[in-house]
Amino acid sequence: MFQIKEKQKLNSEMMLFRIDAPLIAKKAKPGQFIILRVTEGGERIPLTVADTDPEKGLVTIIFQIVGKTTDQLSRMEAGENIVDFVGPLGVPSALENIKKACVIGGGLGVAIAYPLVKGLHNEGTEVDVITGFRNKDLIILEKEFKKAADGYYLCTDDGSRGYHGFVSDQFRELLKNGKQYDTVFAVGPLLMMKAICDLTDRPRIRTIVSMNSIMLDGTGMCGACRLTVNGETKFACVDGPDFEGHEVDFDEALSRSTFYREEERLSLKRHRCRLTGGVR
Ligand SMILES: Cc1cc2nc3c(=O)[nH]c(=O)nc-3n(C[C@H](O)[C@H](O)[C@H](O)COP(=O)(O)OP(=O)(O)OC[C@H]3O[C@@H](n4cnc5c(N)ncnc54)[C@H](O)[C@@H]3O)c2cc1C
Ligand code: FES
Repeated sequence: MFQIKEKQKLNSEMMLFRIDAPLIAKKAKPGQFIILRVTEGGERIPLTVADTDPEKGLVTIIFQIVGKTTDQLSRMEAGENIVDFVGPLGVPSALENIKKACVIGGGLGVAIAYPLVKGLHNEGTEVDVITGFRNKDLIILEKEFKKAADGYYLCTDDGSRGYHGFVSDQFRELLKNGKQYDTVFAVGPLLMMKAICDLTDRPRIRTIVSMNSIMLDGTGMCGACRLTVNGETKFACVDGPDFEGHEVDFDEALSRSTFYREEERLSLKRHRCRLTGGVR
């Protein structure tokens, strides 16, 4: 059992939990993730290790409430226990020998981008960060990014704060204004990462994407998270989640990502009906 030591509501759809998991806190590196189960018999979901405190044995996760399991998790309180919390999983992000990086995070990708930015900053890399949200009420981690980044660019889709537009629009402007990077990290929805890879195709800038494939076991056994990279089958859980973006078959990844949409919709509906006593 893994105890929730702290719970914070970051905005109407994102939560931060600190979990007592000393072994993971000691070992986890930026880019790695855990797989948790809220209850016995529950679904396994992967979440990025957003931060660690090895001395206190705490692991921070930041998650967006998007379906049944994240909704269940968001209803738990500090002091309660999660049944499974397995990790660290995945290959750590390669952050060495990068002089100037741009980290671009959209939506729940902002949470995943945070440990990357901190890791790059600790490596002495000059880092620009672009984060995007639907509106000003959903902005998270602004103070933390400002502290770790050399340049911080905030975007909202509706223009209620910062740059009015998508992260890809802001990034295109930075490139047009002469900004140069040796590596770009794009983390967020598949369409956003694909848009960034299109912008860095010519002239080519090395672009690393974090593939948020559907995962079950997280050990390379079940095949749920498979994707095609440079014409070869890879597993996001053991070969990634980071990959060279220009080599990823995004069309295939997009079609696989919607495979269980109907089941996910029904599962959330049943879960909410059970909570409210409504008809299933
Ligand atoms: C390596 C990795 C790291 C991630 N890190 C974070 C994070 O730090 N913060 C965060 O908010 N989200 C993160 N995600 C996404 C997160 O796993 C999903 O939002 C979560 O599984 C949704 O579960 P649900 O039951 O609440 O929603 P569902 O209704 O089951 O699904 C909603 C959507 O979430 C995705 N999803 C569902 N089940 C899985 C699964 N088992 N594996 C992967 N994706 C799934 C699908 O795109 C689906 O359409 C990460 C995903 C991966 C693969
Ligand atoms: S999650 Fe099963 S192979 Fe990756």
